[in-house]
Amino acid sequence: MCGIVGYIGQQKALPIIIEGLKRLEYRGYDSAGVATIGKNEILITRMSGKVAELEKSLPTDLDNGSLALGHTRWATHGEPTERNAHPHIDCEHKIALVHNGIIENYQAIRTKLEQVGHKFTSDTDTEVLVHLVEEMFKYTDDLTDAVRLALKEVDGAYGIAVISVHAPDCIIVARKGSPLVIGIGDGEHFVASDAAALVRHTRNVVYLEDGEVAVLTRDDFTTTTIDNVEVEKTVHEITYEIEQIEKAGYPHFMLKEIHEQPATISDALRGRILFEEGDVKLGGLNDVIDDLRKAKRFIITACGTSWHAGLVGEYMIEQYARVPVEIEYASEFRYRNPIITENDIVWAISQSGETADTLAAVREAKLRGAKVFGIVNVVGSSIARETDGGVYIHAGPEIGVASTKAFTSQLTVLSLITVLMARLRGMSVTDGYKILSDLKNIPEKVKGILDQTDYIQDIAERFSFARNFLYLGRGYNFPVALEGALKLKEISYIHAEGYPAAEMKHGPIALIDENMPVVVIATHDASYDKVMSNIQEVKARRGKIIAIANENDSEIERYANFVIRVPKTLDLFSPIISSIPLQLLAYYIAVYRGCNVDQPRNLAKSVTVE
Ligand code: G6P
Repeated sequence: MCGIVGYIGQQKALPIIIEGLKRLEYRGYDSAGVATIGKNEILITRMSGKVAELEKSLPTDLDNGSLALGHTRWATHGEPTERNAHPHIDCEHKIALVHNGIIENYQAIRTKLEQVGHKFTSDTDTEVLVHLVEEMFKYTDDLTDAVRLALKEVDGAYGIAVISVHAPDCIIVARKGSPLVIGIGDGEHFVASDAAALVRHTRNVVYLEDGEVAVLTRDDFTTTTIDNVEVEKTVHEITYEIEQIEKAGYPHFMLKEIHEQPATISDALRGRILFEEGDVKLGGLNDVIDDLRKAKRFIITACGTSWHAGLVGEYMIEQYARVPVEIEYASEFRYRNPIITENDIVWAISQSGETADTLAAVREAKLRGAKVFGIVNVVGSSIARETDGGVYIHAGPEIGVASTKAFTSQLTVLSLITVLMARLRGMSVTDGYKILSDLKNIPEKVKGILDQTDYIQDIAERFSFARNFLYLGRGYNFPVALEGALKLKEISYIHAEGYPAAEMKHGPIALIDENMPVVVIATHDASYDKVMSNIQEVKARRGKIIAIANENDSEIERYANFVIRVPKTLDLFSPIISSIPLQLLAYYIAVYRGCNVDQPRNLAKSVTVE
């Protein structure tokens, strides 16, 4: 949520900033801006709209410096207008600041600063930060100290970068709650909200932790706490390739990511299956096997699509490992005084590893004495670093705002955790082997579904004018109904609801008429017969049925208007398989409606504010 990029080095800074902002646009894309240091004053260019617009309107005389900051915004306080775009500057135009996060006590600070003469020009919470830094120059003439003093006044979350004519050869960065990564080059340093903005320039990065302030110069960087205690930082290496964050010929990242799933599911399995033992090996859980053995209850916490994966996890783990599981929205868990008892284990699922509510839920659970494990995609992210153990899903960078490949990789990892837990609790080698053999075939089966893209595209075209959609599923496929509906509303702005098929009778059935498309996941599993009855109830009310059904099911054709075929799997893997056609359906409907698939309105990929 909001992307920050900063550069100090030997090269022209602005092309690096603009390229970095484009890579971070998935974090927010309603306005953008840059700041450089001119002759004794800060120069800024800001616009509402996308980074490409900003790039076109950059004045040429801004283009010479080797130090700059940039920002792409997802509005929290204040409309997405030019005056609210970052960077923000102080009264004298000597200091510029970009911010990701929310300053909760900004109103009180603003009032105080206005009383002593500061003039505000935006409606944002962020602007108080830059005026606070300016104010602190009354007490110090050192920019880093001024930033430290300012940060001590604020409540809330921030990742910030600051430049000033008072110290024209450095960038000051600080973090509390919002991610920042420093890139280390040769005679140059970078800062960004996400390593994707740096990977073209350097692979060596340092992750800033909460409460840390760093000073970047061309040749060096130093990190201290907000109280000015020096901190030793470890340099990490970014492992992914630049191609992974490009579209590779696909029109959208989302389509590329849908098509990557046979490979990403294989990557989530690689080196983790022990066939002969009917078991799995998960390196990140090796040291906590005893805790897992003793676990009396799992609490899974997450947001959005990751929450849907967690719901499938609940069904899998309870069925096979017989461990009671509760699934909680992180935003609810963190504030509702949850009960954590001895031997409870909390699992946080997050693609980005930076979602503010999930991170706060992790911290809350730790505070209450729980062991907390992560199921995370982004290596080195905050949740990955702050949990006591966990499993990376290895899906590679996911750029499309609507999550696709991360979801199926989360399900794959949850399947492995299910087998691990079940084997710890008495499942036989043979049963473990059977499950793992079926799991191993999933990537091939996903490929088969992707081959039906043309047919799904055809269905999408027919329904692209629908105003509402209903998604129904039971058992393992109830979470898939939720996820299918979420995908459609996120990217096509069609109202869609996911429901447990039987619950339809308690409300949504009132909506069904000949104009209502109803997607029913009707694979041949334990609840097949019940789902068929639900289909007939829809048919009786002339709803248009799009069924996801197994290849050998001829019965379904009598009731459904369209049938998308998927191969048979064990019930617990049905969500991986069934979600693929729903991703494609949502994608093509959005394309037919002319929507911006990768950057849907009002959304952001990584929600780092609560
Ligand atoms: C945002 C994204 C969703 C994602 C959710 C949770 O809403 O648009 O795609 O599922 O955040 O994100 P996380 O990174 O924690 O999985």
